[in-house]
Amino acid sequence: MPCSWPSRHLAGQDRVGGGCDSGHGPAEFRIENLDAQPGWHDLLAANDAKNDGITYIDCSGRSLFIYRKRTDYRVYDSRCPHQVTNIPHLALEGKRLTCPKHHWAFDVTTGQCVEKGNRPLREFKAKVENGRLLAFW
Ligand code: FES
Repeated sequence: MPCSWPSRHLAGQDRVGGGCDSGHGPAEFRIENLDAQPGWHDLLAANDAKNDGITYIDCSGRSLFIYRKRTDYRVYDSRCPHQVTNIPHLALEGKRLTCPKHHWAFDVTTGQCVEKGNRPLREFKAKVENGRLLAFW
């Protein structure tokens, strides 16, 4: 089931909201997902991801930052690799994402940590199939 979109747009990036099951916590903390097997998740129409920009989406209890450069898509978990703080979309400045808790900063075009920290954002495997962007977790 694809995730729903869009709820609103931000300057320089898109906020894709609602999610296919929004209102729940992160997938791995939900009782009903304890037995969930990893699999592909349908995020959105690939062309709806902003080119050379960042799209924020909620899907299956996760929040994701998607960076697209033409046909190259990178899908990152919104949770900080430091202490799993859920980094909000408001923490984006251009293509730089700064965790509000201890200010690790990330380049969303690569996922690399560019200030303070030493670990990259978690990136999910992604692919386009029949015009849809899918991510695996
Ligand atoms: S939890 Fe994000 S910088 Fe510490």
